[in-house]
Amino acid sequence: MPVTPQQLIKWKQQERSIIGLTAWDYSIARVLDEAGVDIILVGDSLAMVALGHSTTLPVTIDQMIHHADAVSRGVNRALVICDLPFLSYQESLTKAIHSAGRVLKETQAGAVKVEGGYPRIIEIVAELTTMGIPVMGHVGLTPQSVRLLGYKQQGKTMDEADRILDEAIALSQAGVFAIILEHIPSDLAGTITARLPIPTIGIGAGAKCDGQILVTADLLGLSEKIPPFAKSYVNMRQIVKDAVEEFANEVLNYQFPKD
Ligand code: KIV
Repeated sequence: MPVTPQQLIKWKQQERSIIGLTAWDYSIARVLDEAGVDIILVGDSLAMVALGHSTTLPVTIDQMIHHADAVSRGVNRALVICDLPFLSYQESLTKAIHSAGRVLKETQAGAVKVEGGYPRIIEIVAELTTMGIPVMGHVGLTPQSVRLLGYKQQGKTMDEADRILDEAIALSQAGVFAIILEHIPSDLAGTITARLPIPTIGIGAGAKCDGQILVTADLLGLSEKIPPFAKSYVNMRQIVKDAVEEFANEVLNYQFPKD
């Protein structure tokens, strides 16, 4: 059965942890889906892991749609969520509707994600969800604000923690079906998780969230550098290097192909 936003909310009620990973192409998406991942995020982190940019800022809505289209072709079960990239929604309600609508019209993704919880974003979320477009929220460290905030942990002071909690509550009330909590203290994530009727999906937010997500390039050991809160489960850079060197040696020594 395909995973739906409603199913995620049910899993929160049943205390069944939600498994999330990012994907940027068909092959990766296919493997993640076959492995039983519940939510596959076409994150704008693909700007860094697939396109070689130093931040997520340059990726465009056309590029996100191109990748979300490929990812969603590889997925049968997981809920595919596509990030709306920087400047594809913040400017106006009309722009947000157009960008989110394009994702749903031009790909098989089932939802979009936006960053932040300030009043304009709340208004955008309310409008999109009223139109029937499922939206995921994202608070704490929001990489589209890197030029202002950097990549440091958010919510360390009482004021910041209160602001992030208020944003999460406002997003939930505006209609998001789930919310990413990125790089905030575990206790704050626990408080938000207890207060919201919708699932929280943590990345660098401790164990008290309703689910966890990682950037797949980090999990696979493909990234050159990973954030302090991420974990590599395999060293794919080394595995790929070894395989390529073996191939090169066999070609140089006329061992491959065999006649
Ligand atoms: O773009 C992305 O990969 C994300 C994750 C960090 C959740 O937003």
